[in-house]
Amino acid sequence: MNRSIRKGVQKIIIYPMKFRTAFTASVLIAPISAFSVPQRSILGQSLTARNMASATFPTWSFDKPNAAMEWNDVLDVTMSSGSSSEAVDLLVIGVSPPAKAEKEEDDDEEEEEATDKEPEPITLTGSAKSLDDDLSGALTDMLKDHAKSFKNGATVGGTTPTLRVASSTAKRIVLMGLGPEKDDKDWTNAGMALGNAVAAKCKAEPKVASCRVILPEAVTGNATTVRDFSTAFYQTLYADNRYKSGSNVKKVAEDLKSITLTTDGSDAVADAAAIEQGRSIARGIFLCKDIVNAPHNVLNSLSLADTARRIAEESGGSLQCKILNKDECEARGMGSFLGVARGSETEPQFIHITYKPKGEVKSKVGVIGKGLLFDTGGYNIKTAMMEMMKFDCGGAAAVLGAARAIGALQPEGVEAHFCVAACENMISDRAAVPSDILTASNGKTIEVMNTDAEGRLTLADALVYADKEIGCEKIIELSTLTGACMISLGKSLAGVWTLNDGLAEEIANISKVTGDKSWRMPMAMEYNDQLESKFADMKNIGGRYGGAITAALFLQKFVSKKKPFAHIDIAGPVWSDKESMATGYGTKLVTKWVCRQGEKAE
Ligand code: BES
Ligand code: MN
Ligand code: ZN
Repeated sequence: MNRSIRKGVQKIIIYPMKFRTAFTASVLIAPISAFSVPQRSILGQSLTARNMASATFPTWSFDKPNAAMEWNDVLDVTMSSGSSSEAVDLLVIGVSPPAKAEKEEDDDEEEEEATDKEPEPITLTGSAKSLDDDLSGALTDMLKDHAKSFKNGATVGGTTPTLRVASSTAKRIVLMGLGPEKDDKDWTNAGMALGNAVAAKCKAEPKVASCRVILPEAVTGNATTVRDFSTAFYQTLYADNRYKSGSNVKKVAEDLKSITLTTDGSDAVADAAAIEQGRSIARGIFLCKDIVNAPHNVLNSLSLADTARRIAEESGGSLQCKILNKDECEARGMGSFLGVARGSETEPQFIHITYKPKGEVKSKVGVIGKGLLFDTGGYNIKTAMMEMMKFDCGGAAAVLGAARAIGALQPEGVEAHFCVAACENMISDRAAVPSDILTASNGKTIEVMNTDAEGRLTLADALVYADKEIGCEKIIELSTLTGACMISLGKSLAGVWTLNDGLAEEIANISKVTGDKSWRMPMAMEYNDQLESKFADMKNIGGRYGGAITAALFLQKFVSKKKPFAHIDIAGPVWSDKESMATGYGTKLVTKWVCRQGEKAE
């Protein structure tokens, strides 16, 4: 079957035929059974992800770019909550060792010594205890063997090696730390850490079809923790095989079918809604990663616009998608955005997705993402790491991922507008050159001193649109804007610039609960003179130092003075060098921020 698909495509490629025809032909050759799970896909054909991997990967023909991007979907693993005693392949037992005993402060050293010698014993309770009895104390022995790593409360998500057992309950057992026991146990972030750790185990263990996680009632009875567990679990099991074939396809947790969260309490809450919400957020994160991982010959501004339309279609009416083409952008005077897009053969697309709640609107907000599908630097061409610049749509990816999640979560009280000015920063005889003067849609003129400072030029018009045309009351914007931000904050933190203390606090709090880390940076108004131009209203770059700050100051000029506005530079956290993969940063941050805007009662 695979062969016939390949043959089909190859045959057509030899003949000078249009790509669409080639693909249609290959679909006809393949047997019907190959397309058992139809999904909307490349050029409107019905294909499964599996077929995509085995068929010749479609990119572009000489004259016809790719029209769509394939999506990865979260694994089809059923997660449920409640008590169950069915046999499973992998059993994860959450253990909460006693907290360090309270001692006098100046006793510190002695205390350390004492705990080093004699770690506090951990006692298993409930079903973990009876399982231990069945296994003649094997779990207790395991805890003793790993007493050090579990002392003083253990790290949340920390595990023992897998115990292989001959038991009717499970084939393999892992003990997992839940953090120290406390009366007022704060489960913030515990759900995330546990979801990640359990998924990592399911990924690492061979052939796990079923998994059960035994947790204290406080965890499974807490909707937030369950939702975070679900998000973290599903999003950890991401793999991108869209552009691989044959033995290069590496699937994760292939055999996994079900996971159950079990409590020891008799009134365990089977919180299916929280699990489903968590899964919706994970699907947003998947899309975010797919967008960042896709190369430019697959994902250009046209295919990103197509992706946005599909997000709205999939939402079943809760999201509306409007795309402005080049002429519509021109009519609005978006000369700054169009100046960047000028060098690309692909027409720029201004994406605007709207979410309106069913009931009353308490708050109308805008979320903007930088959508450079590729950044060569333009005539100020990049001399280093140009291949990384497929991730220059990381802001757009976070925003569209969040739009997908919001479309499913349907929060009350908030009307949200998701905007992306999508284009590519390329070189051609039409491309902007340094010294060009562009006029933005608010009438301000900009002298382009460096074509590689293009993100802020596209964002300027997107900000004016959100502020003036839509009339958003509050705006946040995410962008892979400057290398300078990465130099200051490193790879795991985004930089946050805002003149509004309340908004700064909101973002800081959301960072804490989502794990999308950020740090507030200064809006040093005294650096504004670096942006002064001899010929225009402003230049697009400042001097040698403080480049991330001058970028933020530039953006602030395109939003009404008193309007709460935050710029979030995600150049660092968008990409994992360790995994050579998108991190999905920002989707949770934006989703949570939008939901919170509706929660604020008045
Ligand atoms: N997309 C880049 C920012 C970037 C660079 C992110 C490297 C991650 C890694 C942006 O468009 C850019 O090129 N910025 C320039 C600005 C400079 C010309 C003022 C930069 O940071 O070097
Ligand atoms: Mn650039
Ligand atoms: Zn860029």
